[in-house]
Parts: sequence; structure tokens; C-alpha cells
Amino acid sequence: MRLILLGAPGAGKGTQANFIKEKYNIPQISTGDMLRAAIKAGTELGMAAKKVMDAGGLVSDDIIIGLVKDRLAQPDCANGYLFDGFPRTIAQADAMKDGGVAVDYVLEIAVPDESIIERMDGRRCHPASGRVYHVKFNPPKVDGKDDVTGEDLVQRDDDKAEVVKKRLDVYHNQTEVLLGYYNTWAQSGQPGAPKYRRIEGVGPVEQIRDSAFAALSK
Ligand code: AP5
Ligand code: ZN
Repeated sequence: MRLILLGAPGAGKGTQANFIKEKYNIPQISTGDMLRAAIKAGTELGMAAKKVMDAGGLVSDDIIIGLVKDRLAQPDCANGYLFDGFPRTIAQADAMKDGGVAVDYVLEIAVPDESIIERMDGRRCHPASGRVYHVKFNPPKVDGKDDVTGEDLVQRDDDKAEVVKKRLDVYHNQTEVLLGYYNTWAQSGQPGAPKYRRIEGVGPVEQIRDSAFAALSK
């Protein structure tokens, strides 16, 4: 299984990625998680990315495409992969297509902007695993602790309301165009074209998981 998850910031890509990667036993390639790991490690790339991310902008296509190429070369990607938060621009999508990176499904998780701000405000993350919680909608078993490891959960620096608003603007201006890009490719009937699936992302997390599994089985 090789798939791309598309959706606005806070649509639930990370949340659903955790279910999908387990079901299909494939690695999750989250460019956001990779950048946050680089920030934590204090690398030069991380320092440069932090400024852009804290402002809600997009890290340069060259950096992102380089990161993804290196990641795809690792042996665990041989049997499939799940992209979360990539591609985010036409340039990134073209780089994948031109590089012959195979995609079986593009899964769009649709959530209106009104729901996003509330979701970000209550989000808590376990950076090491990519597991995502919400204080109200998807609470951990023990307040502030990861369900599996018991380690502390953290709040993301870019989840402040004003940065979320900027991220939503950037999504509408630069990333949303990819819905049409992949839809058109899917309908082209060309060899290697992916299947395009759209699911509603509002409702209980498990209900959306079931819709995602159903969408990926046909
Ligand atoms: P990235 O980490 O990719 O962030 P994002 O796309 O903005 O998406 P989020 O991680 O915020 O949301 P999500 O869809 O994963 O939702 P989640 O499951 O967490 O990118 C961060 C930054 O890195 C970017 O702004 C950019 O600067 C840079 N970057 C990354 N990739 C890049 C690229 N390719 N090119 C350039 N720059 C790049 O859920 C959100 C919350 O909602 C959680 O609290 C969750 O528990 C809750 N929730 C989930 N599902 C539900 C539900 N059904 N009902 C209620 N609450 C729910
Ligand atoms: Zn995410």
C-alpha cells in the first residue's frame, strides 16, 4: 500500500495515519514530524525550518524534496509508505511524479475550517511515536501522558490561534490545489494513476478510521 493523506492542518492526518500504518504495516512519512525531529536535534536544517514553521509558512521545496528522497531510500519503504503532510505544493507533487514514486491511493480527509481551531487548541502529541491526542475529543488514558510509553505529551509551538490561522491560509493558497491535481490524474486512466478517495473528517475518530479503511479497500 502506497498512499498520500491530504487535508488541512488539523484535519486528522496524523491521527488516521497511526491506524492506517498499523493495518498495512507501512512506515508513516510525516514531513512535519521529520522537521520537528530536526529541530529537537538542533541541526542546521532544523534551526532554519523552525523560523518558518513558527510563522505558519512552508519550508522550501528543495529541503522537503531532499528529506523525502532520503527517507524513501531506506529499506522499510520497500513494501509501501504513507505520506502525511507531503506533498504540499505543486512542485513537491511534480517532483514525486517525475521521480516515479508510486502512489496507489490519495485519501482526502475533509474538515471545514471552523472545526480546525478548536482541534489545534486541545492537541497534545507524543513526538517520539507520532501519536496524537486531544484533551476533549481523543484524551489519553492518563492526563498528559502517552498511552503506550507513559511519557509526557507536548503541545506544538505552531498551535497558537494566530499561527493556525496563517497555516490555514497557506493551505488554501498553496496546498488545496493538489485536490484537483490528484483528482484529475486519478480520472485520467493513465497507467500508474492513483485512486482518489474523499472521506468526511468530522465525527468520532473511530468512525473516520472505519471510513478510511473502507475507502482504501475499494
Ligand atoms: P505538519 O506537521 O504536517 O502539520 P499540518 O499539516 O498543519 O497538520 P497537523 O499535524 O497540524 O494536523 P493533522 O491533520 O495531522 O491532524 P491531527 O491528527 O494532529 O506541518 C507542520 C509545519 O511543518 C507546516 O506548517 C510547515 O511549516 C512544515 N511542513 C511540513 N511538511 C511540509 C511540506 N511538505 N512542505 C513544506 N513545509 C512543510 O489532529 C489534530 C487534532 O485534532 C488532534 O488533537 C487530534 O486528537 C484531534 N482530532 C483528530 N481527529 C479528530 C476528530 N475526528 N474529531 C475531533 N478531534 C480530532
Ligand atoms: Zn500531523
